[in-house]
Amino acid sequence: MLVLGIETSCDETGVALFDATLARSEPARGLLGHRLHSQVAMHAEYGGVVPELASRDHIRRVPSLVTELLADCGRGLDDLGAVAYTQGPGLAGALLVGAAFAGGLSFALDLPCVGVHHLEGHLLSPMLGERAPDFPFLALLVSGGHTQLLEAGAPGRYRLLGDTLDDAAGEAFDKTAQLLGLGYPGGPAISALALRGNPARFTLPRPMLHSPGLDLSFSGLKTAVALLVKRESMDDQARADLAAGVELAIAEVLTAKAVAALRATGLPRLVVAGGVGANRRLREHLSAAAEKLGVPVFYPDLALCTDNGAMIAFAGALRLAEATRGAFQVRPRWDLASLSEAVDYFGAA
Ligand code: KG4
Ligand code: ZN
Repeated sequence: MLVLGIETSCDETGVALFDATLARSEPARGLLGHRLHSQVAMHAEYGGVVPELASRDHIRRVPSLVTELLADCGRGLDDLGAVAYTQGPGLAGALLVGAAFAGGLSFALDLPCVGVHHLEGHLLSPMLGERAPDFPFLALLVSGGHTQLLEAGAPGRYRLLGDTLDDAAGEAFDKTAQLLGLGYPGGPAISALALRGNPARFTLPRPMLHSPGLDLSFSGLKTAVALLVKRESMDDQARADLAAGVELAIAEVLTAKAVAALRATGLPRLVVAGGVGANRRLREHLSAAAEKLGVPVFYPDLALCTDNGAMIAFAGALRLAEATRGAFQVRPRWDLASLSEAVDYFGAA
């Protein structure tokens, strides 16, 4: 059973082909191929994602990416067994492009069509690595819009343990980058600059580091950076030092809360997902802390950390039992904890 996955929730157009039958022995074996078009260059001149431009570009890219993907894999439309698309959360117009394309294919080819929760895609993406984590696990979900700690008991059974009260960690990276004139997206630019910075030069807050509970907050860090940038004359070295300081502050807070969550729940493994999970310093801190606790950590392959079609095809393959035909829906806001358990784990394959 071949599942075509389509991701268009924000500024990356992603498509992938996933073989649910092959995946029965090992999820990674199911991924036959994936393609991505990043809109970063297009949005960069505006300093952030322009939703209308994102939607229009998805429309331009989806059909050709699907054609190229099928050619890469030596398959045709007739070989498809199902279509999975990102149903939400995300930008309404951008989501509609992928959803309408998937619904159209489903109608035209009489294929089952399943809407996927974008964050479930991220959360399950480490399972496409060489070493797939088993359930249950603690998930640290750190994307552009979300910073959450979740208990994942089974595919679809997610309990929110902690959340950011204001900005997401990804936003803290993006806003710092903007203040330093590094453009968009900020995470990769900050980490590159941080490589030659001294993280100890500027004293930055570690919001809620010692507060009880597992919630997080990053807006204070953003404000501290804004004040510093106003006050200091920011030469090249100062900018690198500030980038390193911000990166370290975020890594320390996320690591401390992940450790607290592991201790509080006794969960036996940690899974990190989402774009910020690509951050080198965060990975170093999390791995070192987890090793002390004797808890294995799982990260997605770097290519699957940020938005991609592979995670959508995979999550869709797990939810084929929920598929409909010829209809589609988007949910720009959608609570991950409201999902039902994916009962038919590759069962429809
Ligand atoms: O998961 P993602 O691709 O999109 C959402 O679903 O939001 O995450 C994008 C976020 C952005 O905030 C970006 O700056 C951040 O991930 N990011 C990074 C790195 N690569 C991407 N943050 C820190 N270090 C990185 N290497
Ligand atoms: Zn994402």
